[in-house]
Amino acid sequence: MSDGFDATAAKSEVYRPRPETIANYTVPDYSSLRQQAAADPIAFWDAQARELVDWYEPYEQTLDVSEKPFYKWFTGGKINIVHNALDRHIKSWRKNKLALIWEGEDGEQRTYSYFKLWKEVNRFANILKSMGVRKGDTVTIYMGRVPELPIAMLATAKIGAIHSVVYGGFSERALGDRIEDAQSKVVVTCDGAWLRGKTVNLKDITDEAIQHSPIVQRVIVLKRTGQQVNMEAGRDFWWHELAALPIAGPYCNTEPMDAEDPLFILYTSGTTGKPKGLMHSCGGYQVHIAATLKFAFDIKEEDRWWCAADPGWITGHSYIVYAPLILGATSFMYEGAPGYPYPDRWWHLVEKYGVTILYTAPTAIRGLMRFGEAWPARHDLSSLRLLGTVGEPINPEAWRWYFNVIGKQRCPIIDTWWQTETGGFMITPAPVTPLKPGSATLPFPGVEADVVREDGATCDPNEDGYLVVKHPWPGMARTVWGDPDRYRQTYWSDFSSQEWYFTGDSARRDEDGYFWIIGRMDDVIKVSGYRLGTAEVESALVSHPSVAEAAVIGVPDELRGHAIHAFCILKSGETGDLALTDALKAHVRHEVGPIAVPAVIEIVESLPKTRSGKIMRRLLKARVMGQPAGDTSTLEG
Ligand code: WT7
Repeated sequence: MSDGFDATAAKSEVYRPRPETIANYTVPDYSSLRQQAAADPIAFWDAQARELVDWYEPYEQTLDVSEKPFYKWFTGGKINIVHNALDRHIKSWRKNKLALIWEGEDGEQRTYSYFKLWKEVNRFANILKSMGVRKGDTVTIYMGRVPELPIAMLATAKIGAIHSVVYGGFSERALGDRIEDAQSKVVVTCDGAWLRGKTVNLKDITDEAIQHSPIVQRVIVLKRTGQQVNMEAGRDFWWHELAALPIAGPYCNTEPMDAEDPLFILYTSGTTGKPKGLMHSCGGYQVHIAATLKFAFDIKEEDRWWCAADPGWITGHSYIVYAPLILGATSFMYEGAPGYPYPDRWWHLVEKYGVTILYTAPTAIRGLMRFGEAWPARHDLSSLRLLGTVGEPINPEAWRWYFNVIGKQRCPIIDTWWQTETGGFMITPAPVTPLKPGSATLPFPGVEADVVREDGATCDPNEDGYLVVKHPWPGMARTVWGDPDRYRQTYWSDFSSQEWYFTGDSARRDEDGYFWIIGRMDDVIKVSGYRLGTAEVESALVSHPSVAEAAVIGVPDELRGHAIHAFCILKSGETGDLALTDALKAHVRHEVGPIAVPAVIEIVESLPKTRSGKIMRRLLKARVMGQPAGDTSTLEG
């Protein structure tokens, strides 16, 4: 069911690149590059792997398809992403270039040259080693948006360990499950994180999360807010106290890794209640993210790049932490939320730091748009040359506002479609691509995306179908941590050939071949760009003593894209008053986190089910949206 905006109107609206944009673009002929890559994707990725990153030892094979769908890239090669992100720059003029500019919500400012960042990473890598972390161990990182988060990630990768970053908005239950699944002996956290003028007590949450996890032996705590926290002797250590010890020297060797060794695990939601840990590799991932950032955003030495995501999500992993550093770029990072503490905070930051490229999500754009045009008008935004969006389909009104009011019709909008699973951009324009508001345009070079019917036949133009990828790509997640069967089942078992990757999205292509993403086809909801499984929220609800059964759907929401609408059947004797629905919301907040709290909780007597007992969420959705029920032939009756 399509419940997004009506894209038909926007289809005839085409924005062609300005001559200056074309002249300024790195690639002389992007469309031939795409064509060549389509003819031979392996040769394209091979060329990127040679050009963009250094290898300690060259790879023997670009793509190994011998164990489908467990594809391997650059086999035999030895590499470390931190060598490419930091070590090599220290030996060049970039040593003194700014790698990171950071501003706190409270206005604190910090800058890191490549040299300074490299030393901080080395110090923390030595600290991790002294805590017993070895190559192949996992380290769970649960922090706010502070520079020490990228530092902890880079330090982990430097010594060949595997990071698992858990977004700071998750609750103790969600954190605990992820620590258990990854079996992390070491956790890195903060005393607290700033969020809209208040503090979130990350250390308390960590304490609760690990109460039932004897696996955790060491907790390293960064002091950010200065709030009172409990420190358990022998287990918990302050980051700054460790950093003052002789063990935390500024030099540390970088571990050469096999291209296919794990680099990190990142948990994301799927159709079951248990989040899956997508595993990304050391070699292919870095090639993919460096190539995509280079071609799609055309990063240049003089740019100031601002990816406004959280490092705790894949967008932050790939495009705050790793790819900009590999390309030797200067990044800006802001601790706070958009529009806090005042509506033009972001525009003030763009002006103050001379940001040239801003990459954010439709939900943030819609939120800022609500404040009105006067706020951006107060600032000189002329440093901007490109704008980007990710996370969900962007509605044409938000696109036009971004384009006209923020970009002053000068800045192409790079609408990047991709997923936690894909590692990096898959469908995206380059600055020279003609744009249509609401379309992610065309696949990146070397990416073979298509829209197909259930039987695998390619859809006609403008026909809705399944979005699939028909050829492996280097940034692809290699497996689900500890559960390769789930990886195969979830992504590779849908179409007859079983050689295509199914994205979980529906889409259509127009007569120009442009992709229009419609949304998720599975039980995944995007709320403010965050990805949540209906099952996660449902299991949180039924774990409350008053609830017998629950069903959750995503309902279109002007600001958030989708909002969660929950239906609950209560246990007998319970009354569905306001106090109870409030208690249920608090319960979900505690079990999963604030992002999962339903906007509406409706108490019902029954739920529509198929004869086999499956809840028909489609019918619930039609009911909420006042639409006809459609085919109800399988309804239990
Ligand atoms: C899902 C993946 C990739 C980083 C952030 C999200 C939706 C993502 C777009 C876009 C339309 C988009 C899809 C996808 N999505 N980007 N540009 N246009 N939809 O990663 O949390 O793994 O979510 O986000 O539905 O499947 P994620």
